[in-house]
Amino acid sequence: MFNPSVTTQQPLSLGQIYGDVTSRELFNNGTVSVRNATESAEDMEFVGKLVVEGFERKFVHATSRASLPAMRTLYSNNMKGRPPLFYERHFIAECNGEKAGVCVLRYHGDSKLFPERDEDVPPLGCCDLCGLVLLDLGTSTEVPAGKCYVDHITVDSRFRGKGIGKILLDMAEIDAKKRGCKEIFLGVATNNRAKNLYERQGYVTKETISLCCCGMWCLTGEREFASMEKVLI
Ligand SMILES: CC(C)(COP(=O)(O)OP(=O)(O)OC[C@H]1O[C@@H](n2cnc3c(N)ncnc32)[C@H](O)[C@@H]1OP(=O)(O)O)[C@@H](O)C(=O)NCCC(=O)NCCS
Repeated sequence: MFNPSVTTQQPLSLGQIYGDVTSRELFNNGTVSVRNATESAEDMEFVGKLVVEGFERKFVHATSRASLPAMRTLYSNNMKGRPPLFYERHFIAECNGEKAGVCVLRYHGDSKLFPERDEDVPPLGCCDLCGLVLLDLGTSTEVPAGKCYVDHITVDSRFRGKGIGKILLDMAEIDAKKRGCKEIFLGVATNNRAKNLYERQGYVTKETISLCCCGMWCLTGEREFASMEKVLI
């Protein structure tokens, strides 16, 4: 005979607690939810699309507008077949169930744990490859032990200004604290309006970085970057 007291006392499976364990929900306020990325084709495609859209100017400077689809493929490929920890570094925000934003974190040692792979690079001409190498030179960042680096944060233009960026930064801080970090930092072009958001979140500019003459512009398409940091308490 069916006995409800027995069924309700069964321990919940991970799936019941977290929903689909491969895409565990980390935050939900009824409108916006945040979860880790998965290796699904949809997530890989979304991350590639959004990172390239959010930083389009940078990619067009490094390569060309015609190469933007290849840049999307590069970022999507980068998400294939990685260890579970890799997907924990990627946060996807959804607004009313629609994918809306991405935040990618990096910690000390990640470049060894998740190395760049030649096979992820789609066929590109020499000029595009050189442009990407220069961009990497201008933007690559060593992450010291005890710090968390916000590598990418981008929200679909249809959803900007609704607080999703703030929620993603809050989630980044929670993750950084969970992993024992005392500081979280990021780099932003000094003329990027996103600086307002970071200042409101408590980030302060530690230094501004520009290379002599037009060096930084040649590498990145931006003249000056601010390195911003927040102490986590
Ligand atoms: C920066 C960004 C992630 C913020 O997400 P969001 O959901 O719009 O952020 P919130 O609604 O929580 O906060 C609003 C703040 O976002 C920033 N913002 C909004 N639209 C922006 C845009 N088109 N470009 C840059 N920053 C923008 C501003 O700081 C804004 O505050 P302000 O109105 O006082 O200037 C998002 O605007 C974006 O993807 N921009 C393009 C990519 C980018 O520049 N990323 C940061 C690189 S360091």
